[in-house]
Amino acid sequence: MGRLNDLAKVGPIDGGGSCRLALTDDDRDGRDLIVAWMRDLGLEISIDGVGNIVGTWNVGSGSAVMTGSHIDTVRTGGRFDGNLGVLAGLEVIETLMTAGLKPARPFSVGVFTNEEGARFQPDMLGALVYVGGLSLETALDTIAIDGAVLGAELQRIGYDGSAPCPSVAPHAFVELHIEQGPRLEAEGVQIGAVTGVQGISWQEVTIMGQSNHAGTTPMSLRHDPAYIAAEITVFLRQIAQEYGGNQVCTVGKIDLQPNLINVVPKSATLTLDVRNTDENILQEVELKIAQKIKQISETEGVRVSSRVLARFEPVQFDERLIDLVETLAKTHNRSVMRMPSGAGHDAQMLARVCPTSMIFTPSVEGISHNPAEFTSTDDLVAGTNILMDTMWALAHVDLSSQTGMK
Ligand code: HGY
Ligand code: MN
Ligand code: MN
Repeated sequence: MGRLNDLAKVGPIDGGGSCRLALTDDDRDGRDLIVAWMRDLGLEISIDGVGNIVGTWNVGSGSAVMTGSHIDTVRTGGRFDGNLGVLAGLEVIETLMTAGLKPARPFSVGVFTNEEGARFQPDMLGALVYVGGLSLETALDTIAIDGAVLGAELQRIGYDGSAPCPSVAPHAFVELHIEQGPRLEAEGVQIGAVTGVQGISWQEVTIMGQSNHAGTTPMSLRHDPAYIAAEITVFLRQIAQEYGGNQVCTVGKIDLQPNLINVVPKSATLTLDVRNTDENILQEVELKIAQKIKQISETEGVRVSSRVLARFEPVQFDERLIDLVETLAKTHNRSVMRMPSGAGHDAQMLARVCPTSMIFTPSVEGISHNPAEFTSTDDLVAGTNILMDTMWALAHVDLSSQTGMK
């Protein structure tokens, strides 16, 4: 709790949250704090070419049981998103060290670069490079929404590490994270045994129209990008309602140029965030959105282009680890339910290279990506204890065979 409060003070914003956009000075300051805490614990610290930090407790033998998450935030971040997973990992190691207990395998804690994808896209970029899903070169050339180049920012903040990318696959990976949604609270359940992560489709749509005088241009002569951006926004809500279920669609960012009261805009640039647990439905919705954009743009006489910012298919976690989380939650007398994650997480990338799962703690009123984000201390402690027992169990089982755990 002390570390969570100290980290929340790095890049503080009103309401008790933080703003630490990836690779900004605030992110650097947060990284420096975590590295100092890792040093205090005597962990071996490695930083790779995309700035992922890994602190390893070198006990036992073989590949590490890994946990971790991220400390970069959205601009209106809460104090738990990502931070909990990193700091709980440090807490687990410190607790075992203090108790004189040594696991049969090394324990490591990862701090992955640019999980949020708010400044640089795609999200989970650091973890994706870590597992070999994106080349380091491509990652370093990524341009931020503010024009900065990722590699240059890494150098500027001193986190252009030398540890190789991709990294060695851990024995297993388990991430503790707040749910960031309303389900656990609504169902009165204390722990989520996360079954996987839904598919995510991010794109940037640019609409070019004809800038004109707001007072003199007859409506019949307009080619108005703002109008089309609004039509797209309304359509996303309609199609999400039409499909229902897990379908979610969001227009989170709209930029009009020249963005002046008395000028019909020249251009509109907007982001589409479309997600579903079912890949086939997600593709169907993507297609319908593309068809709608084409149809309304032709009618209005504007030109549209789009750029994919992130596209990840749904991920299923390892059944053995989901079972383990479920069993250990019950051992800790916590009610537990299996559930998919609506948010993206670093774990969805680690699942490509090792047995992986996640542990959710409830979010009060399901609020997240908002300084009002809150999880009770009791839930945080329970989640951390279950993380500790999950990591301990994983250190003492053979996961090489696909069946059960011996
Ligand atoms: O967008 C997400 O789901 C995550 O917060 N990066
Ligand atoms: Mn997160
Ligand atoms: Mn987040």
